Amino acid sequence: MLLLTAKPVAEKIRVEVKRRVHLFSQQFGRRPKLSVILVGDDNASQIYTQRKGELALQLGMDHETITFPKSVTPAEVRNRVQKLNQDPGVDGILIQRPLPKKFLEGDVLFWISPEKDVDAFHPQHAGELHLGLPTFEPCTPAGIMELLSHYQISIQGKVACVIGRSPIVGQPMAALLLKADATVIQCHSKTQDLKALARQADILIVAAGKAGLVDATYIKPGATVIDVGIHRTSDGKLTGDVLFEEVAQVASAISPVPGGVGPMTLSILMRNTIHAAEIRERARQHLA
Ligand code: GUN
Repeated sequence: MLLLTAKPVAEKIRVEVKRRVHLFSQQFGRRPKLSVILVGDDNASQIYTQRKGELALQLGMDHETITFPKSVTPAEVRNRVQKLNQDPGVDGILIQRPLPKKFLEGDVLFWISPEKDVDAFHPQHAGELHLGLPTFEPCTPAGIMELLSHYQISIQGKVACVIGRSPIVGQPMAALLLKADATVIQCHSKTQDLKALARQADILIVAAGKAGLVDATYIKPGATVIDVGIHRTSDGKLTGDVLFEEVAQVASAISPVPGGVGPMTLSILMRNTIHAAEIRERARQHLA
């Protein structure tokens, strides 16, 4: 059984991003900058945004987290995002999810200008992705593709099953696998006989957000299993959507939680940020 740990892949990407950040700073006389918006006091979101900030600084970028209380109105946050859109010193903008209910996702998706949308959630990016066009790719699915590629898991012609259809993970994951010539089965909470469909998969991506949903009976022997879930157990440990110990007996490759998908998401976010910075500065030079 092959353990698909992020460490070597995430590290390789971080080294490359650091080199590009250094070159960018020399060439343009400023550091690339990531601005993160955090609304409310959700503990997990605070930890995630803190990690994003620390990594950006480690790689030589500038970073700011702009925090708002839960009571903030969507209009106030939108105004702040518009200022960041117009700020020439800001290269990447990210609005941490989840947001309070009064924020309508269908509105928020349009706030960040596509050229600074390093999460790649803007409908323009989603549309390009679903048409198989070059675009910014959402960090978690793009990180999973890097993980599969690093461990030489072949995708072309294989059956890939994605459990989950969120706009952040499930949908873009299915689009990327399809673009890589997999035959994709997309499952969700209304799917009938999830187990029978999952058992057809050579590659099973589990992004259901339900701790321990997938046990060994969901796995085709020899399959590759990617666990996107992250949950804290009552004794304080982190676990995923997959029952690791028993699934590892049947699968040929499996990603651990923690140490699998999570670090990949962060690395791709940094790569998207330097990429956004390079594109914008090059376009500006071209126009000057
Ligand atoms: N919340 C959970 N995952 C993500 C992510 O990739 N980006 C943002 N902005 N929020 C998240």
